[in-house]
Amino acid sequence: MKIAISGKGGTGKTTLAALLARALADSGRAVIAVDADPDANLASALGLPAAEWPEPISEMRELIEERTGSKSGYGTYFKINPDVRDLPERFSRVVRGVRLLTLGGVAKGGAGCICPASAVLKALVTHLLLQPGQVVILDMEAGIEHLGRATAQAVSGMIIVVEPGQRSFQTARTIRRLAAEIQIPRVAAVLNKHEPDMDLEAMAQKLDGLPLLGALSFDPRIAQADRDGLSPYTGEEPQAGEIRAILERLIPWASTAKDQKGL
Ligand SMILES: Nc1ncnc2c1ncn2[C@@H]1O[C@H](COP(=O)(O)OP(=O)(O)OP(=O)(O)O)[C@@H](O)[C@H]1O
Ligand SMILES: [Mg+2]
Repeated sequence: MKIAISGKGGTGKTTLAALLARALADSGRAVIAVDADPDANLASALGLPAAEWPEPISEMRELIEERTGSKSGYGTYFKINPDVRDLPERFSRVVRGVRLLTLGGVAKGGAGCICPASAVLKALVTHLLLQPGQVVILDMEAGIEHLGRATAQAVSGMIIVVEPGQRSFQTARTIRRLAAEIQIPRVAAVLNKHEPDMDLEAMAQKLDGLPLLGALSFDPRIAQADRDGLSPYTGEEPQAGEIRAILERLIPWASTAKDQKGL
């Protein structure tokens, strides 16, 4: 199961990525959580103190030079398909049973442009997505414009995190359309910051047929954990039950035949 998590800024992508990764690891699965947001903060959401955050791969200059054969950035020749097979093991950190890999950001130089660091990241993500027997959770930056086709097509599916609100639903519909264009096999939504008086059915209808895998309640402890630099994972109700319910739908959904469900 290889899941990319997307959605509008601040909807709760990192929170959901951390909660799913922790719950899946607790259930005995091998989980690798990939922080693919240049503004990385998944380490914190997994409960790793700032002093122990791993250095992002994109900032490992020597490694990037060694793997791509390039000393400078743009305009020079370098390997566009570097060998990265050893990197997950070497540069990840295991945090409470979840293997965490922080990719970091690369300077964006125009459409279709590729630099040595992005060649390494691309090869790394593709390698992880093709590894059998491992759950991959990709925490992405807002939007999916930056998601390459190879990555898009190698994920089992993409979850769009939506908040109760018209703007968030609108973004979800836009992401869904873009996702179809780059052929992401299946797309579903998770509602976050749900309040008890909200009508879940009515919310689901605003998603225009986008399957709703479940909802996570608004919980002040989640926001507090973020302020304190701690993990939002409590393992307690209602969170535990909500995550369990999401996983009960997510696991079969992610493994149905590609064109049966989702888009
Ligand atoms: N269910 C929830 N209840 C209360 N607060 C929440 C909940 N989910 C997320 N938050 C809070 O909302 C804020 C944004 O969450 P998070 O960082 O997970 O979003 P994001 O989509 O990853 O943001 P970004 O687009 O910046 O990467 C954080 O302060 C987080 O603690
Ligand atoms: Mg985030």
